[in-house]
Amino acid sequence: MDQTQRGRFVPDAEMARQTEYALLCRELLSARSDAPKKAYVHTYGCQGNVADSERIKGQLREIGYGFTETPDDADLILFNTCAVREHAEDRVFGNVGALKRLKAEKKDALVIALCGCMVQQPHIAEKLRKSYPYVDLIFGTFAIHRVPELLYRVLSAGRRLIEITPGDGTIAEGLPVERDRGVKAWLPVMYGCNNFCSYCIVPYVRGRERSRTPDAVLAEARALVSDGAKDITLLGQNVNSYGNGCGFDADFPTLLRRINDIPGDFRIRFMTSHPKDCTPALLDAMADCEKVAKHLHLPVQSGSDAILKRMNRHYDRAKYLSLIEYARKVMPELSITSDIIVGFPGETREDFEQTLDLVRRVEYTSLFTFIYSKRQGTPAAAMDDPTPPAEKSARFRELCGLQEEIASRRTAAMKDRVFRVLTEPGDEEGLLCGRTEGNVIIKFPGDPALIGQFTDVRVTRPRTWMLYGEQA
Ligand code: 5AD
Ligand code: SF4
Repeated sequence: MDQTQRGRFVPDAEMARQTEYALLCRELLSARSDAPKKAYVHTYGCQGNVADSERIKGQLREIGYGFTETPDDADLILFNTCAVREHAEDRVFGNVGALKRLKAEKKDALVIALCGCMVQQPHIAEKLRKSYPYVDLIFGTFAIHRVPELLYRVLSAGRRLIEITPGDGTIAEGLPVERDRGVKAWLPVMYGCNNFCSYCIVPYVRGRERSRTPDAVLAEARALVSDGAKDITLLGQNVNSYGNGCGFDADFPTLLRRINDIPGDFRIRFMTSHPKDCTPALLDAMADCEKVAKHLHLPVQSGSDAILKRMNRHYDRAKYLSLIEYARKVMPELSITSDIIVGFPGETREDFEQTLDLVRRVEYTSLFTFIYSKRQGTPAAAMDDPTPPAEKSARFRELCGLQEEIASRRTAAMKDRVFRVLTEPGDEEGLLCGRTEGNVIIKFPGDPALIGQFTDVRVTRPRTWMLYGEQA
């Protein structure tokens, strides 16, 4: 590894130790019964969690597990949890509660495990320890590469185990990956977040920013392409700060250009970009690279400067709007999406109107809208929040209504145009579906042999959130 490729990794000896534990688990399980072992893995939350689950499943496969979609058939049930909003946590508690009966029936023949962001919070781990005694294994985001060891300890000792030690800033490279997206692939480029937006739990449960080396990312991207991947999404909480402080010879725009240079017919996407670090250099790289989809997910969170300040976002609406203006100048066809939080503590009607105004100006393709959810331990949790929940819900509906109008106008303008989509199985009888570069879904009749390939489709009937079309 040369000077420019310095990163901090889980030592090889530790990774080798996990491989030994995988073997021990395998032996222990096959000594118990000859029947093939099955795991049910359910993932909540964002793509970062999906990518983690692919690595957890890779390790489970190495231990000898196959996978099932039915919890009742499983020898191991694992939930990879999310902590971003209270609603996600409530769902996990509900779904874990529903496993009590199954555990009572199967006893030691079933291992119930919870991992991920939600359980990394000490108050949640404590609640699970006290009130959910039938959960056998609980491990946080920093122990994802230690599945074999943790599982072996539970299986061999027959005792429950909770492992939520905070991270040490290292990255586990070389884990086996069990991907299940066909020609679409997630490719993490960095982990953690340094931004501490005042409402957000992520920095507390995923630790500080750390980037994979350009070599590691490029090697994985090349392997994906030669395995047939056609749509690769680069992942990070804030991809624009990729490599910060690492001394790499590549920042994020450079990384995009290098991946774009890999020969092959495939698309590159990335998420998420933070407006404070989104630069003209990134937008120029997007514009120059023919494989980079012309879709920018740029979460604004609020259109009010006062709220953005209290959110600790480090940009204002003027800077955001000027970025959008530059992006559209260099990519006239760019599709832009965003995340918006409604009802942040102290948000007034005037603040909210600033958000509506910004949404009207930008004309997003689509929006992910959320009502603010109080997260224990974040600065916003201590802020005054006098707005009644009913008022927040009304604002939320108003924002969704506005975006619906904008989306309908945008999709109507796509009528009769031809778009290149990556074909996927459809969810409507007799129809395939595909996503445009801008990430809009088109459903169309066609030969299932097209699945996994790029196809040109003409839009015939636009709907608000998707389109119907025919092969062009
Ligand atoms: N309440 C509501 N939404 C939140 N998000 C993050 N934290 C919270 C919270 N406490 C939203 C942000 C972020 C998206 C992934 O989730 O909009 O961009
Ligand atoms: Fe949370 Fe802000 Fe980091 Fe995104 S950038 S993960 S919203 S703290």
